Amino acid sequence: MSNSSTARRITTHVLFEMKLKGEKIAMLTGYDYSIARILDEAGIDIILVGDSASNVMAGYETTLPITLENMIYHAASVVRAVKRAMVVVDLPFGTYQGNSKEALASSIRIMKETGAHAVKLEGGYQVAESVERILSAGIPVMGHLGLMPQSIHKFGTYVVRAKEQEEARRLLEDARILEKTGCFAVVLEKIPARLAEEVTNTLKIPVIGIGAGSKTDGQVLVLHDMLGITKEFSPRFLRRYHNLYDEIKGAVQVYISDVRTLSFPNEKEQY
Ligand code: KIV
Repeated sequence: MSNSSTARRITTHVLFEMKLKGEKIAMLTGYDYSIARILDEAGIDIILVGDSASNVMAGYETTLPITLENMIYHAASVVRAVKRAMVVVDLPFGTYQGNSKEALASSIRIMKETGAHAVKLEGGYQVAESVERILSAGIPVMGHLGLMPQSIHKFGTYVVRAKEQEEARRLLEDARILEKTGCFAVVLEKIPARLAEEVTNTLKIPVIGIGAGSKTDGQVLVLHDMLGITKEFSPRFLRRYHNLYDEIKGAVQVYISDVRTLSFPNEKEQY
């Protein structure tokens, strides 16, 4: 994948075209400059500055504590690295729910202070007014349904959502509402593959899955999970492409040993 300035930028229009052509969309989370540069050069389509930063960057148990200021810091770092990918930023918990004016104000801060290209929020009909208001300022919005980590205290657990008919029906209805309201894409998290396929076939906008089977228009994973930097989190849907936890630990142990045994630095590594 080329990273020259002539590489076509990923826009909402490009994503829509990809869905029409049946080209799968690859999305990963990213939270800092150095990693975002690698993701972009590798050819990732969308970098999500997810509020999962609360877990994997800050070490909180849930996504609830991360602040708008924290998200702006991460997003601005990612944007500085990116030439081609679309950068989508999660609106953190408490910055949009129940108040569409606040949702717009939070989104404007994100767009103005980071240079990102879109925001993402969790929820269906409850956030439709916020989606509408954010869109009125020309800010693209990505939806998020199924398992919504910001509602973990309502759900009680991180188990698969919408297995029952009634919840599945409501999810499909919410997906339709998000599309009608103007979302340019929707993330479906941890729901049955057949329901995700139905939503994907029903909507004209791209549907990106995480733990939602292979029939969605694209996939997203949390970078630290797929690289094996996190260790404990291993749901069925997660494919680990590396074991960086052990690799980094091993490298650090070799370094410690080199320092202690005076093998680092050597003659060539000094002035
Ligand atoms: O915050 C995040 O990383 C997300 C993904 C799980 C989609 O919302």
